[in-house]
Amino acid sequence: MKALVFHGPGQRSWEDVPNPTIQDPTDAIVRVDAVTICGTDLHILGGDVPEVTDGRILGHEAVGTVVEIGPGVRNLAVGDRVLVSCISACGRCRFCREGRYGQCLNGGGWILGHLIDGTQAEIVRVPFADNSTHKVPDGVSDEQMLMLADILPTSYEVGVLNGALRPADVVVIIGAGPIGLAAVLGAKLFSPSHIVVVDLVDSRLDAAKAFGADIVLNSKSDDVAAIVRDLTGGLGADVTMEAVGIPETFEQAVALVRPGGHVANMGVHGAPAMLHLEDIWIKDLTITTGLVDTYSTPTLIGLVESGRLDTSPMITHRFTLDQFEEAYDVFGKAGETGALKVVLTPTRT
Ligand SMILES: NC(=O)c1ccc[n+]([C@@H]2O[C@H](COP(=O)([O-])OP(=O)(O)OC[C@H]3O[C@@H](n4cnc5c(N)ncnc54)[C@H](O)[C@@H]3O)[C@@H](O)[C@H]2O)c1
Ligand SMILES: [Zn+2]
Ligand SMILES: [Zn+2]
Repeated sequence: MKALVFHGPGQRSWEDVPNPTIQDPTDAIVRVDAVTICGTDLHILGGDVPEVTDGRILGHEAVGTVVEIGPGVRNLAVGDRVLVSCISACGRCRFCREGRYGQCLNGGGWILGHLIDGTQAEIVRVPFADNSTHKVPDGVSDEQMLMLADILPTSYEVGVLNGALRPADVVVIIGAGPIGLAAVLGAKLFSPSHIVVVDLVDSRLDAAKAFGADIVLNSKSDDVAAIVRDLTGGLGADVTMEAVGIPETFEQAVALVRPGGHVANMGVHGAPAMLHLEDIWIKDLTITTGLVDTYSTPTLIGLVESGRLDTSPMITHRFTLDQFEEAYDVFGKAGETGALKVVLTPTRT
């Protein structure tokens, strides 16, 4: 088969590799019908994730068809259409039993395209298949479902639910990449009075508006703090969500929240950020961090199936699998290409 193989920082190619086979009784082999690229894959290619070694097939999001199951798989059958989640889960360890699948102690968690070969391939081996996949309901397209592999549960769990967003709240989302935009979709489910989105790139802010943001602000030209103060009677936002992953935006998220409010960090950070305890100790803040667990995926599937959540605006570009290298080029230059999520399929859809 062919797969997108990592060969060290900056090096990747769509090349021939052996087909995956069942290694553990709980494995399934899935033919990939739709797959996407994550910002995290760009971090890997940038050399920021040293555990990913030369020869690793990348990718942790896919929709596919089960072609083989190990003898220990109970819930899946050959021919099932499944979502392959970015998080795998043994289902038995202390954390899996709490729904904290991201922290799985038995070799689950974020492993696909990280510690084991991933989904950017014609075929993928999925460990702990019963607990790491979700059946695609009839009538839901591969593309709609694919958005539930990573970005939607991340924004919903780590942003919206950790942020404890409530109806009529003012929420400020900093960063309008796929994660921030998915947070807009998730926030809308809770009917906030105002969704404010902050970015530096106008095309991203236009996208935020199209996704349903009420107010979009460019940190370069707008006085974000003053505008949020005016909007909230001087108090600050009820909830702020950080969707960038740099110290400045985390510090901004803390500065913009009201007393008693919630700061939900979603960004993956590579550098320390300053926490101004001397200002905030008195403000009764709740600050949360998190790796996605995907415990909310069944909820999100229900929302898509019932038409309450439309993930399709997230998809800006489509390719066939043999165009994987071009797809990386387009996704990697999102500022120029306007790419949000790209979808690759075996043949053109
Ligand atoms: N916690 C998790 O489980 C999890 C899962 C997936 C992704 N993430 C992280 O979420 C973050 C966002 O992911 P993404 O795919 O949307 O990334 P992205 O790079 O596509 O988007 C980031 C956005 O932030 C904007 N930005 C940059 N500097 C800014 C600033 N100073 N002020 C305002 N906006 C600024 C950029 O213009 C861009 O639109 C990343 O750090 C990613 O690694 C976390
Ligand atoms: Zn991802
Ligand atoms: Zn586990």
